[in-house]
Amino acid sequence: MKIHNCIAFVTGANRGIGAAVVEALLAAGAAKVYAAARSAIRHPNPRVVPLALDVTDGAAIAAAAAAAGDVGLLINNAGALEGGDLFAAGAEAVERQLAVNALAPLRLALALLPALRRSQGAIVNILSVVAWAPMPGLAGYSASKAAAASLTGSLRATLASDGVSVHAVFPGPVDTAMAAGIDLPKTSPAEVAGAILAGVEAGEAEIFPDAFSRQIAAGWFADPRAVAEQFAA
Ligand SMILES: NC(=O)c1ccc[n+]([C@@H]2O[C@H](COP(=O)([O-])OP(=O)(O)OC[C@H]3O[C@@H](n4cnc5c(N)ncnc54)[C@H](OP(=O)(O)O)[C@@H]3O)[C@@H](O)[C@H]2O)c1
Repeated sequence: MKIHNCIAFVTGANRGIGAAVVEALLAAGAAKVYAAARSAIRHPNPRVVPLALDVTDGAAIAAAAAAAGDVGLLINNAGALEGGDLFAAGAEAVERQLAVNALAPLRLALALLPALRRSQGAIVNILSVVAWAPMPGLAGYSASKAAAASLTGSLRATLASDGVSVHAVFPGPVDTAMAAGIDLPKTSPAEVAGAILAGVEAGEAEIFPDAFSRQIAAGWFADPRAVAEQFAA
């Protein structure tokens, strides 16, 4: 799909990758950007329509979908990461991350589906390289991204005949608050945002938006067991 003149909806639009995606959409000529965040943002560009949305709130999702009946591109970006030992964090931490990272993107897709079908639009789910194999220090996050990847694949297959494309994004470390504690080279949110929009325009089902992501993807497709062992260590 073309980004120019599209009407987009971005969750977690207040900071990090989400804020960068909003700017990239505006720069690429999007006609309107619904910028959803837990606390509605202020933005100087009149093409930005701020929405208050906690993605775990079903009533708020319904209200946002009613307000955005003309949307053509849903970007499920909002995400939560709780690091730490699995046993100390407990199942509740896993449940919280599943709610934000796996179930909320599905709920948003379903709520916006009538509009996306009308516009023959696209859904973009921002996952992670840990969707492929778990990192034990990020157990709940890895599980939630793996679940989100699986749901993304099911949505893609289900919506193929409706003309709605579904894209999975697998970033490596990106220089945002979420990755503050990760001691690896990080890609800028702006570079990742640009690669996401380029991937959508090119019709790529799977988008690898940074060098780390492309390197891990190559390893994963060649030897998944080696990547799983590397992540586990
Ligand atoms: N940074 C990385 O290295 C990296 C790598 C791979 C994938 N990702 C993914 O990229 C996406 C964006 O992450 P980021 O790096 O930009 O992280 P970030 O700077 O920590 O931003 C996370 C965003 O998600 C929002 N959010 C969290 N829970 C929410 C909820 N219940 N309702 C609505 N919004 C909620 C946050 O809103 P508040 O400001 O209200 O908390 C914030 O806007 C996430 O899906 C993340 O998993 C990031």
